[in-house]
Amino acid sequence: MSAHAFAVDDQLERCPFMPTYAPPQVLFVRGSGTQLWDDTGLRYLDFLCGLGVTSLGHAHPEITAAVARQAETLVHVSNLFATRPAAGLASTLDRLLGGGGQVFFANSGAEANECAIKLARRWGGGQHGRWQVISAYGSFHGRTMAALAATGQPTKHEPFQPLPPGFRHVAWGDVDAVAGAVDDTVAAVLVEPVQGEGGVVPAPPGYLAGLRELCSDLGLLLILDEVQTGLGRTGRWFGFHHDLPRGAQPDVVTLAKALGNGVPIGACWARSEVAASFRPGDHGTTYGGQPLAAAAALAVLGVMERDGLPARADAAGRRLRKGLESLPAVASVRGRGLLLAAELNPGLDARDVQAKLLSRGLVTNAVTPTAIRLCPPLTVTDDEIDEALAVMAQVLQ
Ligand SMILES: Cc1ncc(COP(=O)(O)O)c(C=O)c1O
Repeated sequence: MSAHAFAVDDQLERCPFMPTYAPPQVLFVRGSGTQLWDDTGLRYLDFLCGLGVTSLGHAHPEITAAVARQAETLVHVSNLFATRPAAGLASTLDRLLGGGGQVFFANSGAEANECAIKLARRWGGGQHGRWQVISAYGSFHGRTMAALAATGQPTKHEPFQPLPPGFRHVAWGDVDAVAGAVDDTVAAVLVEPVQGEGGVVPAPPGYLAGLRELCSDLGLLLILDEVQTGLGRTGRWFGFHHDLPRGAQPDVVTLAKALGNGVPIGACWARSEVAASFRPGDHGTTYGGQPLAAAAALAVLGVMERDGLPARADAAGRRLRKGLESLPAVASVRGRGLLLAAELNPGLDARDVQAKLLSRGLVTNAVTPTAIRLCPPLTVTDDEIDEALAVMAQVLQ
């Protein structure tokens, strides 16, 4: 691939977006599978997937058809009424998660976590019972106020204090640290199977199983945030499938990102006994689970199941990992399946490397100042992996 010269037009520079993101470097106009094209016609390989979202690649024909069909049929009626796509999606998700649960649909990962946090408070009896949530340093659970409070990154809290009370943070990967933070006000433990935004750091062996045991012994809820790891990304259907004994379930699982392949949708699943703590009127959303998003998500799960994409992510992830490990400028590779981070040799700046990769047509991101995250679609081909590795080799030379 030749070096791309960026040409984001002036109109974009003057566009009245709030300054919550750094100014964009590229204007994308079209995508197909793993490929993206910018407004000057240059082609890119997308190894970021819009932050772990487009697991089936861009413009997947079956998802496009499902969305178009649903758009012609029924887009929205609110949750005061039933629709078939939402009902079908809830049943499918419950089956994939092992059964025996119920689902609330939201519109994003943060909202799915808000639902889990409210459910934990309702289940625990609220302020006169158990209401606090323990999460890990380095975690990321979203940007809304409670999800932000749960997020274990004090620098993200700083500008928005005071945040809602009821959140305790402990060292990541340490079951004893969680046990030490429990008292009779604690209702739940909330963790990611792989800390994604925190740097792609997998749970150490035995951590989730240890938390499952601890939560069962102490009568706490184990909430797993699978917003980034869920739906095949790690090489199994859910991140916890690597860590919990066969048949063991978390009490609550939150999902979003890959669920709609880019159509916004989130979900909070809970074991039925836990979900039963909610009463009509306790929680809600105007859009959550509306037929358009639910039809997209149903089509996504259908394609993933039919094509065995979790297993494909496992095989493709091995190829990508092996290739990354062979690059002299890469000190180590971490992650699972197709959620990987390449830790660069000392002295290399990940933001600088990411910008150079982008200029050579490879979309990634600097997940820490020293590591590049790679999370291509689960449908990525071996040739595309090799092409991406060749770009990395060139840039890191
Ligand atoms: C593990 C995890 N939880 C929650 C979120 C928040 O999701 P959203 O940005 O859809 O609100 C993210 C987003 O990156 C995430 O990685």
